Amino acid sequence: MKATVVCVIYLCCVILSNGKEIQDTSQIPKNQKGRPSFHLRPPKNWLNDPNGPVYYKGVYHLFYQYNPYGSVFKKPIVWGHSASHDLVNWIHLKNSLIPKNSFDINSCFSGSITILPGNKPVILYTGVDAKNQQVQNLATPKNLSDPFLIEWVKYPGNPIMTAPQWVKPNDFRDPTTAWKGKDGIWRVAVGGVKNDSGVAILYRSKDFVHWSLHDDPLYYGKNTGIWECPDFYPVSVNDRNGVDTSEVDMNLKYVLKVSFRAHDVYTIGRYEADKEKFVPDGLGITGNSSDLRYDYGKFYASKTFFDSVKKRRILWGWINESDSSTDDINKGWAGIQSIPRRVYVSTTGTQLIQWPIEETERLREKHVTYSGEKLRGKSLLEISGITASQVDIEVSFKMPKLEVTELFNPKWDDPQVLCSTNTAWVSGQAGPFGLLLMASKDFKEQTAVFFRIFHNKNRYVILMCSDQSRSSVRQGIDKTTYGAFIHMDRNVDVISLRSLVDHSVIESFGAKGRACITARVYPQFYMEQEARVYAFNNGTLDVVIETLDAWGMKKTNGN
Ligand code: FRU
Repeated sequence: MKATVVCVIYLCCVILSNGKEIQDTSQIPKNQKGRPSFHLRPPKNWLNDPNGPVYYKGVYHLFYQYNPYGSVFKKPIVWGHSASHDLVNWIHLKNSLIPKNSFDINSCFSGSITILPGNKPVILYTGVDAKNQQVQNLATPKNLSDPFLIEWVKYPGNPIMTAPQWVKPNDFRDPTTAWKGKDGIWRVAVGGVKNDSGVAILYRSKDFVHWSLHDDPLYYGKNTGIWECPDFYPVSVNDRNGVDTSEVDMNLKYVLKVSFRAHDVYTIGRYEADKEKFVPDGLGITGNSSDLRYDYGKFYASKTFFDSVKKRRILWGWINESDSSTDDINKGWAGIQSIPRRVYVSTTGTQLIQWPIEETERLREKHVTYSGEKLRGKSLLEISGITASQVDIEVSFKMPKLEVTELFNPKWDDPQVLCSTNTAWVSGQAGPFGLLLMASKDFKEQTAVFFRIFHNKNRYVILMCSDQSRSSVRQGIDKTTYGAFIHMDRNVDVISLRSLVDHSVIESFGAKGRACITARVYPQFYMEQEARVYAFNNGTLDVVIETLDAWGMKKTNGN
C-alpha cells in the first residue's frame, strides 16, 4: 500500500516535471553566479512572502507571492506553489490562486492555511478586489485525495470579511492560520493599521465561512505603521516540540509576530482566551530598537506552521535581493525563501531560538575540521578544501576573560548603529572575530560576520554583526550592515557562529540560534574567480577556535 502511494507520488512528480505544469526556465540567462543552489528559489520571475505552509498527506507545501510575468513586484500577484517530500528538494507546481474574480481581480495577496477537522486544508487569503480594496477570501482544494493540492476552488460567497470601518480598505490584509478555542469557535487575526497603530484585528466564526469582527483587536502597538503578515501561535515552555495552533493548554506561551518597516518583530506572552487578548510578558511591540526580531538582516513577511510529522514548528521568511531592479530584470528572477528554521522558545521563556531544520544537514558533503587553533590578534586562517560559495560552516570561539574585554557603554542601544560604525576593519580588544565569507583573493570584496565582546558589570555583552560594506565593489547594491545583541541567560565559555552561504545569500546563526542575521551579497570578483572563506580576528586579543567544521553543500532541486 505504502509502495503504491510512493509510486503514485513519484509518477505525479515525473508527470508534473515533464508536463506543462512546470514553468519553463529557459529564459534564465546563463552565468548567474549569484543564484542560490540550495534555497527555495523561483524558476524565474519575482517571489515574495511565504504563504500557507502546510503538510498534507505525505507532502510539504509552500505557496508564495509570485509575479508570473516578470522579475519585479507588479500586480496582479498570484499564489505560486511548490511541493516537497523532504523540505529541501522542491518541485514547482501550477499557480494555485490566480486573480480572476471581482473579489481578487487585482491580486491574490498573502494568507495562510488552516487544517479543519477531518484533515481538510482551507486557504484564507487577501484579495485585492475590483475597487482595489483589500478583502479576505476563502478557497478549498478541489480534490482532497490529491496530496499535491494542485487545484483550488474559491468560495463563491467571497469576500468573507471586509475592512472594519475604522481601517482603510487598503490597509487590511494577510490573515493568520486560524485557531479553535475550547468553545469550538474559530479565531483569526488580520493585519492592519488604525491611525498609526499597527493592529492584529480579530474575527470569530462557528463555521469558518461566516466571520464576525470582535470589538477589540487581539493586540495593537503604537506608532508602528501597518502590521503586515501577523503570525500567532502557541509554544511549549518545557521542550523544543512545536504545538498545533489550536492546542488548548494553560501551560503554553504564545508568540505574536508582525511585519513592519522591513522587519519581523515578535513578542512572547499569554493568550487570555476568555478576554480574546494577547498579553505580552515584557514591553510588547514598541517599534524601537529593543524589539526582538526573528532576524536582524533581510528577512520579512515570514510565516510558521506546525509540522505534525516531526512535532516541530517551522519558520519561513522571504529574503529579498540587494541588487537593483535592473539587475533583477537582467537575471530574470528575484527573491528567495529562507532555509526552513525550527523555532522554539528558550529555557527562560524570554526569546525564540531558531535553527536550520535537520534535513539541511543531508546536503552536507565534503567536510573539513579544525580545533584548538589560536587566532592571534589581527590574523586570519584560510579554510580550504571546500567550495566557499556553497558551504555550511560552524565555528566556536573560546570566550576571552571577562575582565580583559572593553567596557560597554549602556547608551549604545542600537546594535545596527554600533555595527555600522565599528565595521570589521575597526579593531577592538575582544573582536571583531568571526568569519570572512564570499571573499576575493585580494580581500577587496568580502562579507564579515563577527562578534565583539564587551562587559557591563559582571556580564558579557555580545554584539553580532554582518558587515556588507565591503561585500561588493559594484555600485547600486544595498550594502547595509546589520547588527544584533545576543541575549545569553548566563556567562558562557564559548560563543558559536554558523553561516549557511549559498552564493548571494548568507544566513548566520549566532550562539546556536539566539540571534540570526541574513544578508544578500553580489560581489564583482565572483563572476571570474572562486570565492574564499576565512576565520579572522581583527581584535588585539588572541582568540582560540575551539572547533570549526565546514561542509560543502549539495545543490538541491530548489525548484
Ligand atoms: C508583505 C506584503 C503583504 C501583502 C503582500 C503582497 O511583503 O506587502 O502585506 O499581502 O506582501 O505581495
